[in-house]
Amino acid sequence: MRRRDFINIAAVSAAGVGGLAVLYPLVSQMAPSKDVLAESTTELDLSAIQPGQAIKAVFRKQPVFVRNLTPQEIATANEVAVDSLRDPETLTERTKEGHGNWLITMGVCTHLGCVPLGAGEGENKGEFGGYFCPCHGSHYDTAGRIRKGPAPANLVVPEYEFTSDTTVVIG
Ligand code: FES
Repeated sequence: MRRRDFINIAAVSAAGVGGLAVLYPLVSQMAPSKDVLAESTTELDLSAIQPGQAIKAVFRKQPVFVRNLTPQEIATANEVAVDSLRDPETLTERTKEGHGNWLITMGVCTHLGCVPLGAGEGENKGEFGGYFCPCHGSHYDTAGRIRKGPAPANLVVPEYEFTSDTTVVIG
């Protein structure tokens, strides 16, 4: 066999293998694998988050804020006349029964999608003590509800459940 023939045969078999390799992921994509399903949820350990602290996590490639509200922050949120809100919701409706101190929201401003400040240590929490979006000046309160600025709606509460007192699964 001449050297050129060998090169041609090698190229053809590489193409054959390549064809199979492309086909397999296409077929296997139809059923989401365990990896994909796992990626679509985020499990968080809340045990280190003290009252008054918050963390930023990632859920489906977007920021999510998890905040341990102080009794004062809960009281402040509950004092507000719900009817006066742009997007009327109580703190109770935005938290889980028995875990009313845990405010879990997407960290995505409902105006144009910037990441608000307020979850990090020392960050500006805005005029209502919750979160502040510096892009165009939206202020969210301690329940993550829009109170001032252009954002049309409250920070979105994702689907989540507590699997223990200190573990939450988002998604
Ligand atoms: S994106 Fe937050 S105020 Fe505009």
